Amino acid sequence: MTAQRQQPGSYRLGDLDVNRLGYGAMQLVGPHVFGPPKNKQQAISVLKETVELGINHLDTSDFYGPHITNQLIREALHPYRDDLVITTKVGARRGADASWIPAMSPAELETAVHDNLRNLSLDVLDVVNLRLMFDMAGPVEGDIEDAMTAMAELQHKGLIRHLGLSNATVQQVAQARNIAHIVCVQNQYNLAHRGDGALIDALARDGIAYVPFFPLGGFSPLQSAALSDVAGRLGVMPMQVALAWLLQRSPNILLIPGTSSVEHLRENTKAANLVLDEAELTVLNDIAPEQRL
Ligand SMILES: NC(=O)c1ccc[n+]([C@@H]2O[C@H](COP(=O)([O-])OP(=O)(O)OC[C@H]3O[C@@H](n4cnc5c(N)ncnc54)[C@H](OP(=O)(O)O)[C@@H]3O)[C@@H](O)[C@H]2O)c1
Repeated sequence: MTAQRQQPGSYRLGDLDVNRLGYGAMQLVGPHVFGPPKNKQQAISVLKETVELGINHLDTSDFYGPHITNQLIREALHPYRDDLVITTKVGARRGADASWIPAMSPAELETAVHDNLRNLSLDVLDVVNLRLMFDMAGPVEGDIEDAMTAMAELQHKGLIRHLGLSNATVQQVAQARNIAHIVCVQNQYNLAHRGDGALIDALARDGIAYVPFFPLGGFSPLQSAALSDVAGRLGVMPMQVALAWLLQRSPNILLIPGTSSVEHLRENTKAANLVLDEAELTVLNDIAPEQRL
């Protein structure tokens, strides 16, 4: 049995209220998140549709494209609605061959913040995640004191409203919180990839948002017989079930599913109305082991 939920509600990022179902803009540009979109008008339409659907939390970075995703956001949505919160990230730059290059020195972080401000046409960035690049593929330990201190200084200069962390270990989150106030953590997490269970619960207790990237599996979209079975029984799409499961996993989870399609965007937004019952959750929880304390 499923019930209809009015809205999955909102959550606070510092002093900013965002709806829990947002949008991630990374898929709008070319292959390998590099170069212009195949169809620019389609990318603009997706962005315009986000605000039409009531989405008020966009995730981006100036290293998507590079620069192009932010320029598309500006072209589609500037001047921005008062309630729109744009979260961006710094910590990497792109090589001419589309490679991802760590750029976590204080000077590189400052340049990246100014790139974001310019390309988004903003005076202050709402939320900036320090994207840790010790290993592109996943969180690994490494000292973040210099980088996080530089981020705190950029915040004190008035260029950033709120800070977050991405691709971070539990220890790095703790280290960052000793240096500055953190409002969100953005790591990989979805139905099939659940290493951050304990971190999510700990952040929830402290009122810090957890924003899973690759909520639908990213470049390898989620595929699971159990997921398809649940979706089939409910008469909805598997991706909607995957998003509804995340919304029910913890109240501090904010969603930023990515898509380059208006149709998928509308479909994903409807996940906000889907409530999974205990039996459905049990089937879905069994897809992958969760690491909890
Ligand atoms: N901090 C980080 O290191 C990091 C890393 C990666 C991503 N991110 C952020 O997280 C956001 C989300 O991640 P993501 O976009 O890479 O992955 P995702 O949301 O897990 O999945 C996106 C993929 O799913 C497909 N898709 C979306 N909706 C669908 C639907 N209803 N039915 C079928 N397929 C659907 C998309 O294809 P279509 O375009 O065809 O819909 C795309 O291939 C990004 O946009 C980015 O803002 C952050």
